[in-house]
Amino acid sequence: MSTNALHEWAKAYVLSDELSVKFAPPPPPSVAENDPPASACPELRPGHPAVFRRIERAEKSPKAGALRDPKKRAWLFHTFMHHELQAAELMAWAIVAYPDTPVAFRRGLANILLDEVRHMVLYREALESLGCALGDFGVRDWFWQRVPAAKKPAEFCAVMGLGLEAANLDHSRRYSQWLRAAGDPRGADLQDLIGDEELPHVRFALHWFRRFAGATDFATWCAHLPLPLSPVLLRGLPLDVDRRIRTGMDPLFIEQLAAVRFDPMASRS
Ligand SMILES: [Fe+2]
Ligand SMILES: [Fe+2]
Repeated sequence: MSTNALHEWAKAYVLSDELSVKFAPPPPPSVAENDPPASACPELRPGHPAVFRRIERAEKSPKAGALRDPKKRAWLFHTFMHHELQAAELMAWAIVAYPDTPVAFRRGLANILLDEVRHMVLYREALESLGCALGDFGVRDWFWQRVPAAKKPAEFCAVMGLGLEAANLDHSRRYSQWLRAAGDPRGADLQDLIGDEELPHVRFALHWFRRFAGATDFATWCAHLPLPLSPVLLRGLPLDVDRRIRTGMDPLFIEQLAAVRFDPMASRS
């Protein structure tokens, strides 16, 4: 096996356009501190399985009442499945983009990738239980259009773990309530499960953000968000304060995030 086996494995996952690889990658190879360094490849972009039809603009996410319509729920699960796919690909991208980071960080990214893949499978099952299939709805690469602007691993942790994944703690709680009210307890349970399983991902990002950026306060986080991302886009209202506290987030950070009413990034452009 090559000395940069994890690097190659991650690259192959991003580049693959096979559904069978995206939904069931081979197990990640081990990596050691004394493996020769691989060269960074931040320009890496994903291969797209042909079944996914790309659209420029997504329709607005269905609100509470609309989720009584099974078709709307199927659309939701398809969209969430594609978020998970992008998350999995971006964990692999980070392994390739930041080869000089500690081995524990890159190993952790590979483990999170496998969680995201499991979430994809669960969403695919939910979609199929409603009589729909992969490719029945259009998809957008919103995460891919933004996250690779993270030039450094601290920025990646800020946007991915402390941004998109943390926001999913809030969103999944809200959708769980909406799905339950719409008469879909299985869909609601799935939101609860996936929301809970994102907790260690956010905890991981918090740990490494502290290590890479030196602090985890709100101002430091905002300063590491690649433009044009604003904290407003990286939360769901109401915030799931309980879950966020359980990740180890500072209560003051959570208060400040909840209070954002304008775009503090505007002053940075
Ligand atoms: Fe996930
Ligand atoms: Fe995650």
